[in-house]
Amino acid sequence: MGFTLTPAEGENFIDRQELVDDMVRTLTNRNVRMGFALYGVRRVGKTSILKEVRRRLRGRDDIVPVYFSIWTVAPKNVSTFVKALGSEILNVYQPRLSLRYKAGELIKSPVSILRKTIKELKISTRVGEDIEFLLKFDSRKEEYGDLIKRVFTLPEQLARETDTRCILMLDEFPTITDLKNGNGKIGEEVLGLVRTLYEEQQNTILCISGSIQKTMATTALSSASPFYRQFLVRKIEPLSNRYARELITRNLRKEIGSELLSKIFEVTGGIPFYIQLIGKQIESMPETDKIDDIIEHTVKEEGDVIFNEEFCRMSPKEQEIIIAMVKSKVHSPREIANVINEHTDTISKSLDYLQEKGMVEKERRGFYSIIDPVFSLWIDMKYDLY
Ligand SMILES: Nc1ncnc2c1ncn2[C@@H]1O[C@H](COP(=O)(O)OP(=O)(O)O)[C@@H](O)[C@H]1O
Ligand SMILES: [Mg+2]
Repeated sequence: MGFTLTPAEGENFIDRQELVDDMVRTLTNRNVRMGFALYGVRRVGKTSILKEVRRRLRGRDDIVPVYFSIWTVAPKNVSTFVKALGSEILNVYQPRLSLRYKAGELIKSPVSILRKTIKELKISTRVGEDIEFLLKFDSRKEEYGDLIKRVFTLPEQLARETDTRCILMLDEFPTITDLKNGNGKIGEEVLGLVRTLYEEQQNTILCISGSIQKTMATTALSSASPFYRQFLVRKIEPLSNRYARELITRNLRKEIGSELLSKIFEVTGGIPFYIQLIGKQIESMPETDKIDDIIEHTVKEEGDVIFNEEFCRMSPKEQEIIIAMVKSKVHSPREIANVINEHTDTISKSLDYLQEKGMVEKERRGFYSIIDPVFSLWIDMKYDLY
């Protein structure tokens, strides 16, 4: 126990019981073939939910949950993605196939050994060949569409061979469009491709997550998106006051007053990552009476680590807009334009980009707000220019 900055599961996992139960129930129901699409701001707990569901599914004979985050793919190109995902799927299926080696070892071993190992498995020749291909293909020779096809066919094949259902959880799925093929991004075209493959499958259930509302809309939420109505869509909200408090009191090894709990909730907006972060700081301080200082200190110092790079990568205009929104508490393109002396159209365009980056959301017509309350506070503390 104790505070953690890595995804929470098991005894670290708080709240969201209804959702997790619902997911487990649906994903294990042989009469339903429907996965979930989770969306919600960064650090709200999507990965934790996927991993908690995976944990709950792990004990079952008939279900094989595979978790893979597109964010772990590096270098960010199609062939790396295909090798990594293919390897992960194979590793999770390893015991069921009585496979003697991990995918990583097979990749390094000579083709002759690989072939011999695969031959010993009780799987069809066809599937064996596909496994060999995924582990050994020459990325310079293969077409990206074919690679995508091969890797998304693997879970279906293995599920069929082992009489299981594969729950394929692809975390941060919309960023699959950013993968490079040669010099350019593969783009949204890949979504249609995956969708077509997925549609024909019976034993694979896809679950996806995404942090940026706009890209999730392009992928699955809007009626024009390739995966429209292919998922049970769930928005993940920050923790409620009650569970935010529980997260602290359960992990903190000292007493903490109700007022301070309220303060933490207010500052973090219930986003569990920041609650964990502040909890860690409080834990490491000898006294709890200076919590106001601890919170301020945490936001300032840790905020630098968390936000600086991203903020520095923004264009000067975007930075100016963010600072104006925080400092002058303005929300409409026109108001922002007034504050920073710029054309409203230019502001609107920049706000579009900021939405795509997941920094800003459009709450209603002409009303934009900064999504992350801690980011907002960090900006507020750091930039006193206005
Ligand atoms: N249900 C939860 N209970 C406790 N802590 C959580 C919970 N969900 C998320 N967290 C914490 O919040 C942080 C971010 O969670 P994560 O699942 O990675 O969010 P996301 O995937 O939405 O960015 C992690 O430090 C994790 O420990
Ligand atoms: Mg995540």
